[in-house]
Amino acid sequence: MFEETTNKVILEEKQGEAMEMEAPVVANDKKLYLESYGCQMNFSDSEIVASILTKQGYTTTRNEAEADLILLNTCSIRENAEQRVRNRLTEFKHRKEKNPGLVVGILGCMAERLKTQLLEQEKLVDLVAGPDAYRDLPNLIGEVEGGQKAVNVLLSREETYADISPVRLDKNGITAFISIMRGCDNMCSFCVVPFTRGRERSRDPKSIVKEAQDLFDLGYREVTLLGQNVDSYRWNISKKGEIENPEEPTVNFAQLLEQVALVNPLLRIRFSTSHPKDMTDDVLETMAKYNNICEYIHLPVQSGNTAVLERMNRGYSREWYIDRIDAIRKYMPNCAISTDIISGFCGETDAEHQETLTLMDYVQYEYAYMFKYSERPKTLAERKYEDDVPEAVKSARLTEIIDKQQAHSLLRNQAAVGKTYEVLVEGTSKRSEEHLYGRNSQNAVIIFPKGNHKKGDYVFVQVSECTAATLLGEVVENL
Ligand code: SAH
Ligand code: SF4
Ligand code: F3S
Repeated sequence: MFEETTNKVILEEKQGEAMEMEAPVVANDKKLYLESYGCQMNFSDSEIVASILTKQGYTTTRNEAEADLILLNTCSIRENAEQRVRNRLTEFKHRKEKNPGLVVGILGCMAERLKTQLLEQEKLVDLVAGPDAYRDLPNLIGEVEGGQKAVNVLLSREETYADISPVRLDKNGITAFISIMRGCDNMCSFCVVPFTRGRERSRDPKSIVKEAQDLFDLGYREVTLLGQNVDSYRWNISKKGEIENPEEPTVNFAQLLEQVALVNPLLRIRFSTSHPKDMTDDVLETMAKYNNICEYIHLPVQSGNTAVLERMNRGYSREWYIDRIDAIRKYMPNCAISTDIISGFCGETDAEHQETLTLMDYVQYEYAYMFKYSERPKTLAERKYEDDVPEAVKSARLTEIIDKQQAHSLLRNQAAVGKTYEVLVEGTSKRSEEHLYGRNSQNAVIIFPKGNHKKGDYVFVQVSECTAATLLGEVVENL
């Protein structure tokens, strides 16, 4: 879910559509090259940025060599995520030496964390804009063009970009992200996100439902509702649980899910990320009630040991987490569950690590994102604990975790062989023109011969073979 991925964001194919939605208000013949790193929220933000700059008349390019403006939307979650961006910025610096008119800017979490550092000390960029400052991009670009350096890293308590129609940067036209909230008020001790994304705030449910409806009308068939902790979504309810405006209805996450599910039974709903301390049974009940809410939950555990979870400040114990897993299985016996795991957090003993492995055995996750602990500046863990697990031990533990997950993923896939699933077709398989791929409700990718089917169709597919990563099957025409 929150994998460090790079995606050379490509607007070209979508430009026609983007122009229809948002006619440019400023004449401009400049080209934008936008590259995104980090989590889905960052990719979703890039769609906001693209929308704002399309209105300024920018056209986009996938060829960095012809760009007038290069923007990197960055991630700070682990040290190596930042290192990759620095390497890219150094490449762009050389490009700038040959083309002094080129503007290079940094957006996202690294921009927020490092503020003016990459601009003033390291002289790698001309422009720095934090996650809540994207509306200011046209002004910032103007300042740079006027010969100044431009920085806006103000965090906001209100900004949700609710009124901006994102320019969809994905290429399939079937699945899309919808941001439902921003920021995070949890203080997991290892995590930099509260510092880079600011305070948690929820977006107006009406604008979320409208965005889902608009996407459906454009032919989209799946939306993923995004937030760092979707279970704490709340509209018109204060943190203390009081109603803010008596004239307006209150909406919690379960109710929001229901409202989006009611947009159309043919629109699939997914969401990410759930937090084990906040995931309530009413969310599970709503999921079980609506066929179009997918039976898949990403529930990051981080560690299977209660003492480590306490040091991580996660707000739950091993037993609490297991209770949430049991609740999911009770409401939805076929629900797929994935997770995030960190190996080698401060003070982790071998016995504590073993508890992560036994918890994995208990849950048998369909999928997991697994990381070595990387100390981040200013976090609680950096201030309070020593990063004392040797690198080699972190790596050895991570390998054990990965090996176990591989075995579980294979078991899960083997159990799917022979079963029939409803699959939403997302496109042509990368491996063969004659095959399509899509996902079942449980988020497993299934590849099958094309027949007369096309992108956006729902088809029933019986799984015939598998690897640890994919399922292969045949369409079952008549159920
Ligand atoms: N909001 C989500 C996670 C966001 S970050 C949640 O609460 O689960 C995505 C994942 O990156 C985390 O779940 C965690 O597993 C990992 N991560 C975060 N900080 C990290 C760090 N300092 N070192 C290693 N992994 C980290
Ligand atoms: Fe980070 Fe914790 Fe917030 Fe997730 S819930 S973004 S891990 S602080
Ligand atoms: Fe990375 Fe920021 Fe997301 S730190 S994981 S891009 S919220």
